[in-house]
Amino acid sequence: MKSENILLTGSGGREHTLAWKLAQSPLCNQLYIAPGNGGTREHGINLEISATDFNALKDAALSNQISLIIVGPEEPLVKGFVDFFKNDPSTAHIKIIGPAKEAAQLEGSKAFSKSFLNKYNIPTAAYKEFTAENYNEGIDYIRKHDLPIVLKADGLAAGKGVLICHNHLEALAEFELMILQAKFGVSGNKVVIEEFLEGMEMSAFILTNGKEFILLPEAKDYKRIGENDKGLNTGGMGAVSPVPFYNEALQQKVLTTIIQPTIDGLQKEKLDYNGFIFFGLMIRENEPMVIEYNCRLGDPETEVILPRIKNDLVELLLAVFDKNFACVKIDIDERSAATVVAVSGGYPGLFRTGIEIHGIDSIRPEETLIFHSGTLYDNGKLITNGGRVLAATSLGENIREAAEISTYNLEQIYFEDIYFRGDIGYEFRNAY
Ligand code: AMP
Ligand code: GLY
Repeated sequence: MKSENILLTGSGGREHTLAWKLAQSPLCNQLYIAPGNGGTREHGINLEISATDFNALKDAALSNQISLIIVGPEEPLVKGFVDFFKNDPSTAHIKIIGPAKEAAQLEGSKAFSKSFLNKYNIPTAAYKEFTAENYNEGIDYIRKHDLPIVLKADGLAAGKGVLICHNHLEALAEFELMILQAKFGVSGNKVVIEEFLEGMEMSAFILTNGKEFILLPEAKDYKRIGENDKGLNTGGMGAVSPVPFYNEALQQKVLTTIIQPTIDGLQKEKLDYNGFIFFGLMIRENEPMVIEYNCRLGDPETEVILPRIKNDLVELLLAVFDKNFACVKIDIDERSAATVVAVSGGYPGLFRTGIEIHGIDSIRPEETLIFHSGTLYDNGKLITNGGRVLAATSLGENIREAAEISTYNLEQIYFEDIYFRGDIGYEFRNAY
């Protein structure tokens, strides 16, 4: 088989994990990461290009004879990265892992995804959408709605566009801020108001060509900054895989009531989709419902999913473009994975960057993998460069063991004001 020059875009822990896995493949000739971080450069060449600078990425793809591109984050996909490359004769031949612009609306527009879910009878929270045009109707809708009530800015809002309101006044104020004061800019011109779902959250992932799919390991992430899921929401403080309550019967229900109807919908709507779908799920009394679609892998979910996949990742990704995609067998490590994210003190509020990181070299990769998120090399020194700094992933016989190894090894790493949760996977530590 011919080997590939691969371009991976993005700069987080998800991308470091992808880079680590891609670089292990004999099919990977040279890996480039744009822009990457302090960790990705161990596995390829970092290019100083933003993941949304399409013209510069095109030039880099052509000058480095790139044959495969993996788009890490959602923003370039929602802005039409795939269409930009496909519509240009000089780059149309490049295989891209990521949906076309319209299909990426599954993540890029809550109104689009809710209408898709309803059209294909996929279980999800009841909702209505509002704009300035039917603003007064929205006020009435909120007043009569049960509490809590969920308000979602239609467009991408860097993970901040979802508000769970516990009283009507707060919901009305937020609704006004979004629609009349453009709190989330144009992303909030349209607002989806939906019922609050109780239950246990988890995520399922597939790799698809829009017709067939491969089921990837599931995961659960921990979004709150504090232990026992207290405090502010973050990009994700840790994750585990597998999810112990995700038994055979539940998995079957997710496949038949959510994943297959989603694929059928993609085909009926003629949506061009090669890539990952991340299903954010709520499980209530063993019934799964969709909270959201994402058109990419999750962060930090990727840090526990990829270490459990034994297949050659480049082979798996190339298979998406092959007519025998449906025959591909995924080989998953039976062990449990847990990742614990170390963040800068103050995150998700204000935090400092540029702080030197010590101790990474003392961690044995056979025990714990360190995936960088916000790091950077400055004059040969590794420094912090973001809120989430790095993630420690370990495999173990169960979630308790995996989480304890990750936590132990993270304690060997130091930067000023480092913070991480010591309880990732807490609800599974005794029972499984
Ligand atoms: P989203 O951006 O749609 O993923 O929402 C962010 C987070 O808000 C989700 O991961 C859930 O924790 C929570 N959330 C969103 N919608 C709902 C809902 N209808 N009921 C309960 N929680 C929700
Ligand atoms: N961890 C959630 C996300 O990647 O959206």
